[in-house]
Amino acid sequence: MPLIGEQLEPQYAAPDTDWRNAVVYQVYPRSFQDDGEQGEGTIPGITSRLGHIQSLGAGALWLSPFYPSPMRDGGYDIANHTDVDPRYGTLDDFKEMTQAARERGIKVMVDLVPNHTSDKHPWFQESRSSRDNPKADWYIWQDPRLGGRLPNNWASVFSQSQLKARQRGDLWLPDGELTPPLSAWEYDPQRDQYYLHSFAKEQPDLNWQNEDVRKAIKDVMRFWIERGVDGFRIDAVPYIGKDPLFADEELDPAYIEGEHNPYDQLKRFYSMGYPPTFYYYLRELLSVADEYPDRDIRIIFEAYMPPDDVDKIDRLRPEVASSFNFGRMQAPWDAATHQALLNDYYGRLPKGAIGNQVNGNHDNPRLATRLGAAAARVAAVINYTVPGMVFVYNGEEGGFVDVDVPPERCDDRLGFRDGCRTPTLWDGSPNAGFSRAAPDELWLPIDPAYRTRNLAVQARDPASSLRLYQRLGDIRRNLPALRGNTYAGLQADDSDVLAYARRTERAQAAVVANFSGDRSLTVRVPNAGQVIGRVLLSTHPDRHDADTDFEQGVTLAPNEAILVAPSA
Ligand code: GLC
Repeated sequence: MPLIGEQLEPQYAAPDTDWRNAVVYQVYPRSFQDDGEQGEGTIPGITSRLGHIQSLGAGALWLSPFYPSPMRDGGYDIANHTDVDPRYGTLDDFKEMTQAARERGIKVMVDLVPNHTSDKHPWFQESRSSRDNPKADWYIWQDPRLGGRLPNNWASVFSQSQLKARQRGDLWLPDGELTPPLSAWEYDPQRDQYYLHSFAKEQPDLNWQNEDVRKAIKDVMRFWIERGVDGFRIDAVPYIGKDPLFADEELDPAYIEGEHNPYDQLKRFYSMGYPPTFYYYLRELLSVADEYPDRDIRIIFEAYMPPDDVDKIDRLRPEVASSFNFGRMQAPWDAATHQALLNDYYGRLPKGAIGNQVNGNHDNPRLATRLGAAAARVAAVINYTVPGMVFVYNGEEGGFVDVDVPPERCDDRLGFRDGCRTPTLWDGSPNAGFSRAAPDELWLPIDPAYRTRNLAVQARDPASSLRLYQRLGDIRRNLPALRGNTYAGLQADDSDVLAYARRTERAQAAVVANFSGDRSLTVRVPNAGQVIGRVLLSTHPDRHDADTDFEQGVTLAPNEAILVAPSA
């Protein structure tokens, strides 16, 4: 059998664990499934939908925070790390859900938020009560600088609201002046000091220099591992590493007023990812996994950082942890960019690492909103047919789009993340089967198109997005070529086409994708070799089972991606 792209040496080699090619389905608990009339999702609701998650080929599920929280940042403001918010259920419900998931072969990953807590967390309540209580040093407290000035110029990531305030006329500044970011410092009269908050002021940053804090967070990990959790998605992790001297950040000349978050006016050298303590702290978090050698604990870091820094994180303990690969989610939709990003990614991942692909999450516009329905299908085929973990954000499988949430119903303080957090559209019944509450009592409104745009309708339509994801899940689990761990970029002779090969010792397959939305084309892939193959899957369902010949040229419709396996 001639090898596809024979001369290409695949560099990527992931360890042989269940995580290696797992589809990881992200559930945003508040929006997934209400089991009653409260208008918000619950844990028993998730349990009742595990069959759906399994149907997508999922080997794991990641739950965004479900811990007690005042909900000033969608649950990422945690008031108790070791319990379930009553709105979602109880620890027993969680246990039941994990057990039910395990029975279906689905692992459970939870969110760990190590950088900050809610200001309502008992740790912070105690810390702010005086300058000499036992937790006085658990958060980052600083005296004002001379003249009562802020301790330094560090800014809050959540400074987008400043632009909005300026546009509304609530913040007046002379024309041409830059919109100032929000300070990351908040004055606390009780201590007559400032505390640091890299995000909202209700999310004070923990002091990672304090060993007791590090121990407390590691205890949180142990708590969940002992309750059956298999892994963690670790939130905003760069922020745990800061300059202990709190030096001012330099200004960033790349900032564009009106286009960027005012937070981007500052470089990020001292306020996040500050070596060497940062890597030391990461290693400490990772060491918890070593305490459970028979559990195959997996960690995925959320680190929006330049690629070189992400690379350093990925090299720490590749067999345990890697960072989200956000590159393609943030890149413009063109074949050359995506080909380069894939080639680079699988080329640079350290040996033994498990890569990953991401098409969306609760912080970004949904896939089909960013790319449109047809290109979203191409993106799905790519993510499901490259090696590593595939993250699927709930609703992505339905090709769902962001909902236009009216201002009076908005919840997110940043003002742009509600649209991607609206409830799942299960069926055509009231509230799309999400909840039995009155529609105006849902925490966020349902997409008004739900009667026709829902998962139940899609289950009956072979051309639907859901059916494509289910087929992809099936192929990813069962096609030998995709069960391996190699990736080799191919070179198509058309700039709208992306192509790659997947191989194991005994099997191989190739994916060829047309990124153009309006051009049918015939493309040759010179370095693929003389492959004659059968189309096992296409974004265009009528193409299944057609024959294709790489030497003659592969014909693709606009927005068509195909998976080809050579016919002997
Ligand atoms: C992460 C979360 C985001 C949250 C932020 C602060 O980026 O994904 O939703 O607002 O951290 O915790």
